[in-house]
Amino acid sequence: MKITRRNVITGMAGAFALPAINRLSFADTPDRPVMPMPPLKQASQGQIHLRIQEGRWSFDGKRKTPTWGFSQDYLGPVLRVQRGAELSLRYENTISEPVAVHGHGLHVSGDLDGGPHRTMAPGESWSPVLPIVQEASVPWYHSHTHGKTGPQVYRGLAGMIIIDDGNSDRLPLPRRYGIDDLPFIVQDKDFNDDGTLLYNQLGRGRFYAAHIMVNGVIQPRTSVPRGLVRLRLLNGSNGRFFNFTFTDGRVFHVIAGDGGFLEAPVAVTTLLAGPGERFELLVDFSDGLPATLRSMPAERNEDNYPLFNPVQGEQIIAHFNVDRRICTDSDAAMPSRLNSIDWFKASEAVLSRKFVLATTEDGRMVINNKQMDMRRIDERIKRGVVEIWELEGELHNFHSHGCSFQLLDINGKPPACHLKSWKDTVTVDQKSRFIVRYDHTATEAFPFMYHCHLLEHEDMGMMGQFVVTS
Ligand code: C2O
Ligand code: CU
Repeated sequence: MKITRRNVITGMAGAFALPAINRLSFADTPDRPVMPMPPLKQASQGQIHLRIQEGRWSFDGKRKTPTWGFSQDYLGPVLRVQRGAELSLRYENTISEPVAVHGHGLHVSGDLDGGPHRTMAPGESWSPVLPIVQEASVPWYHSHTHGKTGPQVYRGLAGMIIIDDGNSDRLPLPRRYGIDDLPFIVQDKDFNDDGTLLYNQLGRGRFYAAHIMVNGVIQPRTSVPRGLVRLRLLNGSNGRFFNFTFTDGRVFHVIAGDGGFLEAPVAVTTLLAGPGERFELLVDFSDGLPATLRSMPAERNEDNYPLFNPVQGEQIIAHFNVDRRICTDSDAAMPSRLNSIDWFKASEAVLSRKFVLATTEDGRMVINNKQMDMRRIDERIKRGVVEIWELEGELHNFHSHGCSFQLLDINGKPPACHLKSWKDTVTVDQKSRFIVRYDHTATEAFPFMYHCHLLEHEDMGMMGQFVVTS
């Protein structure tokens, strides 16, 4: 019997697809709900309508919870676009509060960026046409409403974008969406007794919730073919760092970071990912054995990672079962070479800027001692100039709009090999530096943002604005 997940790709608009394959038996995790695959929307088929709407979604496979989503109950479809093409969107806000939606990791000008200056009031819509000029990568879209990003993303306003290009088309990577090429959006949530979402970040410096989910289902199971499987991992949580590892300690390969492929796959057994970061992974299931992905406390200063506060304990993320009835893609292989990256040299930089992320004694979240102010431009940047940004703080995740950057060093040491891709989000625990060139303009009316991607920190003011002019 040939089993496909075609139904994921075609139709199923307005709901997550539960492909037939996932109803097969799972010897060791029969009680876990299956991992849904968001429907896929191709930019080549014209404008994509993303209706910001109320929904009811089951995170545990049992009770329903009031949620929000983009044209579905929770989260949004995966949007797929080819480099050189346009991604034409129509956001329509049908909920009862204002929403702005940002394309995180997209290289577009400030007026198309969807920051807090692009807020849609209830009933309003916004139809950006985004020229895609960047290499194959996995950006994402999510709420960026002033002061409300945390609760709105928490309730479901986020989704993934996949950019393909000639290089990614040529590489022999797994590419069957929902079969061996899986979007993998990891988040955490708490619930009230009545099943509604509990969003209770107040009084805590950091938001960690008790239940870990992938694509909106708590600790799901999924079946995979016996062979290589590609996970497009997005840490879409509000404030949680994950230190991913398999319970059997198996080696897996990192092939891409936020803004594109690494030059070559990097073998790891653990992977730290902060809120907003993306990694593409290749996991080899050719041994036919089931596997469980978990997150472990990261206490060691391994691979030049910052020393990491082990506050979160061990968490099960997802279960994988190998199902031999799913065709293995015999063409899929681990490429030895993935990309070639033009590296900036530190000596090319004409200036450097320093950003200190901190909490003041009176509890304000600040960057360079300032809280976000929609009317204040914090930095003025010249387009096309190479700069170094130096970040200081204690366990934050810094993100800049309008660019991808290259890490220079983390706490004075070169970044680990698996961080040597284009990136747009970086962990800061003491000191991180990146080198960057802003190639897209942003005006005072629609400036770019830089901020901590712990969304509660962002909402509490750990954000600044900048313009880029020619
Ligand atoms: Cu993912 Cu300014 O955001
Ligand atoms: Cu922070």
